[in-house]
Amino acid sequence: MAEIILGMGTTHGPLLATPPDAWDGRAEVDRKNPALAYRDGTYSFDELYETRKDKYFDEQNSLAVRTEYFNRCQVALDGLGDTAEAAKPDVMVIVGDDQHEWFLDAVQPSFAIYHAGQVTNYALDEETKDWHRAFGRGHSMGMNHPETDQIYPVADALAVHMIEQTIEEDFDTSSSGAQPIGDKGPRNIGHAYGFVVRRILRDKPMPIVPVLINTYFPPNQPTAKRCYDYGKALGRAIKSWDTKARVAVSASGGMSHFVIDEALDKRLIDALLNRDEAALTAEPEFSFRSGNSEIKNWIIVAGICAETDMEMTLHDYVPCYRSEAGTGSGMAFATWS
Ligand SMILES: [Fe+2]
Repeated sequence: MAEIILGMGTTHGPLLATPPDAWDGRAEVDRKNPALAYRDGTYSFDELYETRKDKYFDEQNSLAVRTEYFNRCQVALDGLGDTAEAAKPDVMVIVGDDQHEWFLDAVQPSFAIYHAGQVTNYALDEETKDWHRAFGRGHSMGMNHPETDQIYPVADALAVHMIEQTIEEDFDTSSSGAQPIGDKGPRNIGHAYGFVVRRILRDKPMPIVPVLINTYFPPNQPTAKRCYDYGKALGRAIKSWDTKARVAVSASGGMSHFVIDEALDKRLIDALLNRDEAALTAEPEFSFRSGNSEIKNWIIVAGICAETDMEMTLHDYVPCYRSEAGTGSGMAFATWS
């Protein structure tokens, strides 16, 4: 039988590959965003500033603090990479959110698992690069996507087994058997997966299993409780795979962004550390809007790890502020072992 030997959780936001003096490019996007989600409200940037204004954000948004925090994130990311390399898993299951990269409005599954034998991370064309630059991601687009097309192996037998076993447990997992075709050819693997392969696995992936979650888009995002239960079902599925394999699982995304909410991040990280299912699933759904929704990828991995004896270790939590209104990205890095 397969064994789950390692869990990981990593933020994947653009600031992780953007020089601290260029974070203002992402802040400019925040300034134009008419719908910044914060707690149970939705704000323009100016409204958010009026609601939250605090000297703390000015201090945190200084170049000195940005630089210190950027460096802390690189240390944590390098540490996760070293941990994955040392563990030498045979397979890595990557739980990420699909942000209209793979699925579009036509069909948006709540849970999907990709099960073809390989997946391609395509080099970005110039039009797509310009689109990323317009969103302040000029420095970071290479973090998730390569300069030349890269083919990654997929553990298709495990992927099919995970679909079958979760169906058996009454979760209607959608099956994705090919990269969808868009106007310009095959659609690309999402940022959540490209990040883990490129930044954590250093572009030398073992076979992966992409698990695609609709954390973002109404009306069919799975609730936190459903995510935790789905994670437990995935954990049981992996453990029942009739193959002697050492399997790692990784959550990609989070914590709070684009408005940092340190209290929310602390509450959820504490719940993850304490295996506190009640606290994880009691959080109101408005806490999981916008980028915050990616925390559900962590809740799924916590559910998977709840089916093992592994304990979570938080490597670092770094609130990377980029504006006076408290926008930015709460960065967290953790392992279960
Ligand atoms: Fe993301």
